[in-house]
Amino acid sequence: MIDFPVYKNDGAKEHMRALIDLKNIIAKQLPKMPKEYITRLIMDRKHESMLILKKSDTQNKVIGGVVYRPFEENGFVEIAFLAITAIEQVKGYGTRLMNKFKAYLQKKGIKYMVTYADNNAIGYFKKQGFSTIPRIPKHLWYGYIKDYESGTLMDCYLNPDIDYNNISNELKKQKAALLEALKKCYHFEIYKGLELEQKEVKRKRKEEDLESEKVFSSIPGIAESGWNLQLYKKSLYFY
Ligand code: ACO
Repeated sequence: MIDFPVYKNDGAKEHMRALIDLKNIIAKQLPKMPKEYITRLIMDRKHESMLILKKSDTQNKVIGGVVYRPFEENGFVEIAFLAITAIEQVKGYGTRLMNKFKAYLQKKGIKYMVTYADNNAIGYFKKQGFSTIPRIPKHLWYGYIKDYESGTLMDCYLNPDIDYNNISNELKKQKAALLEALKKCYHFEIYKGLELEQKEVKRKRKEEDLESEKVFSSIPGIAESGWNLQLYKKSLYFY
């Protein structure tokens, strides 16, 4: 059972405990960040946190979260920290948290997320739709967010037409629909392979043979599929 509540420093005991647990996770996962600074931002009343609570019969355990500052009038949030506890990393929780967070922000009319990403986490942020090429207009964020010496400025556009709560299923359905459509457009036929004597195989493997258009187009099905040696070489160049 997983829950994604949003808490801030509102004095409620349960919320404060959970925020301290999140602070401890962040401090462990981002050891270069001073603990006092992390505590100050999490407890700052302009900041909020979306947590991941893993529920069991006996307790609710915080396993990660994202700390952010909303700038609702400018239509963006600044992500200050994001971390998942070590033993729960690379199990998909970071992605689930980000999708829940996007859906939550979408409802509030927020259009962008901005962050100074730790250089080790750039790969993760890219997979969540963040980019180092800015999409948010500069006048909306410049001078508003904190400036960090290390780290890379990244932003993410929240598309109002995407259902982020259901994005994995949506993508699976789109992939299946695309494959079905492709099957209808293309004619599939399995051709018999080349029948060659051992000696002939050796000879054909010679570079000058493989490079020849004649040998290439003699492979059954190649010409019918629209391929030729030139296209084949071009495809090698791109990959
Ligand atoms: N670098 C590159 N790719 C990554 C990283 C990383 N550091 N972490 C995860 N990924 C990839 C995963 O392999 C996965 O790829 P796939 O979808 O192709 O399989 C994808 O990102 C999603 O992985 P999740 O399992 O959903 O991510 P996870 O639960 O591990 O959370 C996080 C990612 C938050 C970065 C976590 O690893 C973490 O807490 N790291 C340490 C703290 C940290 O670096 N936080 C970010 C600092 S920047 C900031 O706070 C603004």
